[in-house]
Amino acid sequence: MNATTRNARRPSADAFTPAMAKELARRRRQLMRAMGQGSIAVIPSAPVRVRNHDVEYPYRQDSDFLYLTGFTEPGAVAVLVPGRPQGEYVLFCRERDPVMETWHGRRAGQEGAVERFGADDSFPISDVDDILPGLLEDRVRVYATLGRDQDFDQKLMGWVNRLKEQARSGVHPPHEFVSLEYLLHDMRLFKSRAEIRLMREAGAISTRAHVRAMKACRPGMMEYEIEAELLYEFRRAGTEPAYPSIVGGGANGCILHYTENNARLNDGDLLLIDAGCELQGYASDITRTFPVNGRFSPAQRELYEVVLEAQYAAIEQAVPGNHWNDPHMAAVKVLTRGLVSLGLLKGRPAQLIKDGAYRQFYMHRTGHWLGLDVHDVGDYKLDETWRLLEPGMVMTVEPGLYIPAGTKGVPKRFHDIGIRIEDDVLVTADGYDVLTRDCPKAPDEIEALVGSGE
Ligand code: GLY
Ligand code: MN
Ligand code: MN
Repeated sequence: MNATTRNARRPSADAFTPAMAKELARRRRQLMRAMGQGSIAVIPSAPVRVRNHDVEYPYRQDSDFLYLTGFTEPGAVAVLVPGRPQGEYVLFCRERDPVMETWHGRRAGQEGAVERFGADDSFPISDVDDILPGLLEDRVRVYATLGRDQDFDQKLMGWVNRLKEQARSGVHPPHEFVSLEYLLHDMRLFKSRAEIRLMREAGAISTRAHVRAMKACRPGMMEYEIEAELLYEFRRAGTEPAYPSIVGGGANGCILHYTENNARLNDGDLLLIDAGCELQGYASDITRTFPVNGRFSPAQRELYEVVLEAQYAAIEQAVPGNHWNDPHMAAVKVLTRGLVSLGLLKGRPAQLIKDGAYRQFYMHRTGHWLGLDVHDVGDYKLDETWRLLEPGMVMTVEPGLYIPAGTKGVPKRFHDIGIRIEDDVLVTADGYDVLTRDCPKAPDEIEALVGSGE
C-alpha cells in the first residue's frame, strides 16, 4: 500500500479518531449495560428541515444520536440490542449512490458504517421497515424518545404493531416503552476527558472571537459588523456558532435573546456580546460586556463591578458537594447588595432577596448545564431537591443586570445598561476549572483592548 492509498482511507473530517471511536463504543456499552438484557434502544437521526423553496437549514445531528454514534449524516437510525449474537450495534443509513453524492455530498454507506463508525451491522435506511420489526421481536423493553419527532413515533408504533399482528404465530412484541432520556441524559451530564478537551478548545476559540470583537469595536459601527468578527474566528477554526450570536448595543443589551444585530453602536453605550462556537458538536457559551468607545462611564463601571463580583462569588460555589442552586444564590446575594448600595433597591438585602426584588433587574437564572446542547441535558433537581454538584459536570455562570430606559425609580445615568458576564465552568474533584478563563473581563483589561485593533 502506498502513501496515497493510505491517505485515501483516512477518515474524513467528520469521522473520528481511534480514541473517539473507542469512547463512542464505551458509551454504547455503558448504556446497554444500564438497559439490561431483553431491551432494545431505537434512536433516529435528526430530520432535515426545509428553510424555503429548495433550500434546507444547515443540518445539525441530534445530540443524543451524535453522542452514541458520532455519525453526522441525516437519514439514519441507530439500534442497540444488548446481547444480540450477530452484533449489538446496528446502524441503518443511506446507501452509497454516485448520482446523489455528486449532487448532495458524500455518504458513508453500509461499508463505511461498519468500517469507520464501528457498527456491528448496517443496512440501508430504505430497508428499515422490513428489518426493524425483526430486531424488536422477543425484546421486552423498548428505549426510545417519544414526542420529539412525530414521524419517528409513528414509524416505531408501526413496527411494533406489525409484530402484534403476528402474535398468533407465536411472535412476542415488546410491551414496555421506557424513556431513553432518563439513562442517556444522566450519562451526558458527566463529561469524559475527551469531551472536556473539546469543550476547553471550543472555549479557547470563542475567547479569540470575543477578543477580536473587542479590538475591532468602534463607535458608529453596526452590530452585525461585530458579529462578522466573531464568525470569522469561529469559521477559521472549523467551528460554527453554537447558537445565534447576541450582539446588542445600549438598550439592545437589555433584551435577553436579542439577535437582530442590526443597530448602530453609539459612543457612550455598552455592547453586550453573548456568543460561543460549537466544536465537533460541543458548545461553548461566553458573554462579555464592554464600552463601545473603550471607556466605562462611572455608572457603567459601578454596575459592571457588581456583576463581576457576583460572577466571582457564584463561580466559587461551583464545587463538588454544593447544590446546583448555590452559585445562583451567591450571585443573587451580591447583586442585591450592590443594587442597594447603588440606591437602585431600598431595604434590607435579606428581605429583598426573600421577596425576589432583584428580579426587576435580574430576571434569569445564573446558569445551565453545557455540553452537546448549549442548554444541555441533565436534571437540575433530584427528588425535589437541587442536585449536588459532582466532578465532570460543566455549567455556565452568567449573572447580569438589565436596566432599560424608563425603569421607575432609577437615576437616568443607569438607563439602557445591560450587563452579563458568562463563563463555562467545569466542576473538578477538588473545586472548579473555568474553561473560558482566558477571556478578559477585568474592566481595565477590557478598556485596554477595546478599539485597539488595526
Ligand atoms: N447563550 C444562551 C445562554 O446564555 O443561555
Ligand atoms: Mn448561557
Ligand atoms: Mn450565553
